[in-house]
Amino acid sequence: MTARRRAAIIGTGHRAQMYTKALAARAHYDVSLLSDTSPTRMAHHSALLTSLGSPEAATCAPAGFAEALRAHRIDEVVVTTVDATHHTYITTALEAGCRVVTEKPMTTDAAKCASILGTLDRTGGDLSVTFNYRYNPAHEKVWQLLHDGAIGEIRSVHFEWLLDVRHGADYFRRWHREKRHSGGLLVHKSGHHFDLVNWWLGASPSRVHAEGGLVFYGRDNGERTGLRRDYVRAHGSPEAATDPYAIDLTADPNLDSLYVRAEAAGDSDYVRDRNVFGDAIDIEDDLALLVRYDTGATMTYHLTAYSPWEGYRVMFNGTGGRLELEVEENTWQPPRTPSGAGAEHGGVVMANPGRTTILHRPLWEAPREVTYEKAAGSHGGGDLRMLKELFGPLGDGSDAGAAPAAGKGATARDGALALAVGVAGNESLATGRPVETAGLW
Ligand SMILES: NC(=O)c1ccc[n+]([C@@H]2O[C@H](COP(=O)([O-])OP(=O)(O)OC[C@H]3O[C@@H](n4cnc5c(N)ncnc54)[C@H](O)[C@@H]3O)[C@@H](O)[C@H]2O)c1
Repeated sequence: MTARRRAAIIGTGHRAQMYTKALAARAHYDVSLLSDTSPTRMAHHSALLTSLGSPEAATCAPAGFAEALRAHRIDEVVVTTVDATHHTYITTALEAGCRVVTEKPMTTDAAKCASILGTLDRTGGDLSVTFNYRYNPAHEKVWQLLHDGAIGEIRSVHFEWLLDVRHGADYFRRWHREKRHSGGLLVHKSGHHFDLVNWWLGASPSRVHAEGGLVFYGRDNGERTGLRRDYVRAHGSPEAATDPYAIDLTADPNLDSLYVRAEAAGDSDYVRDRNVFGDAIDIEDDLALLVRYDTGATMTYHLTAYSPWEGYRVMFNGTGGRLELEVEENTWQPPRTPSGAGAEHGGVVMANPGRTTILHRPLWEAPREVTYEKAAGSHGGGDLRMLKELFGPLGDGSDAGAAPAAGKGATARDGALALAVGVAGNESLATGRPVETAGLW
């Protein structure tokens, strides 16, 4: 019989709910410790655990995390804090001998990345980065086709990712809007995409040139376009009540419990619903990159965070033809959609979903659409499959059909390689010059 594993979750916010539920649902895990700066958000997760029939977990403030890991004999740690703080808890947990699973991005800058890699070298520890997009069956199919040589040697990639005015806007309401917390969208969001390309190509990025800016959100843009309404945060503001760019936290019991109640209790100064056309936003919403890889392949990449629809197009050009992936996560976004748990961030499948198409165009042959087995659930079914690989199957067998992508989990090295493009991209934005990734850390 497998010994029960004692897990800790640090960063008991929105994303952590998926891990709390996943671990509570596995008979071979106990969530034994919760940690966050906000007692209210820890209480939210404690209530979630007991509602699922699990025993209560101990709680601790982040300052006492190292000590609590030892006191509660923790085997595994899940890190779901604000991005720029991941390194602190990853290194603390590795030093304590725990297996660590961290949300992406692994971290946000070169110095923090070096500290994680150094700690891993010293401790010989075990760190997984949860790049859940790898587990989307459409993405696995693309990986398989490319690795089976469907288009020969891959010489270039053209990649466009669109975030719609609901999901995209959400990055401009919360901590993500400041680079010191998120590293900007090149690190926080595009890191997923850069990991996919590294993985698809089996390549490492070597040089990055970026251009971009804040061209839609922010006070100046909002005043110029006339989209700005005059309020600081949505909660309690009559001006926000009819603003399609506002979020009503109280309309979603989870958001209300995690953020509005934490503010009301005075244990958190985190404002989750700021005006996207407000001040103090220093991340970009429109980004263009040129990337060269060590295989000689190149990528042109574009991220747009203010699109009418959400999805992406990736085109691979090879010596034997072309492979095209197009995913419409939604075809449009109506204003004032009631917030559903996680609808902003893929926690649930989006409304108005469109098609996913994989088209193989061999040279001198007619194009053919490639079929693949779809999976149910959030992030194209990727979350369920990733959880199964990370923590084992569910005891009740309800994830029996969710075959994990055996051996395709992302390591710290993968986390660093995805980060390399974002960090080099940020440096290129600042200097206006191409940046070599060698020597970043
Ligand atoms: N892979 C995905 O699809 C996906 C989706 C959403 C979020 N995420 C990642 O999950 C993580 C959490 O995101 P979220 O949306 O849940 O954000 P969130 O703001 O809801 O949660 C973050 C939590 O961290 C806590 N926190 C802040 N500073 C801390 C510190 N110094 N020490 C300890 N706790 C601290 C906050 O109080 C909050 O409870 C992020 O790294 C994000 O990138 C990944």
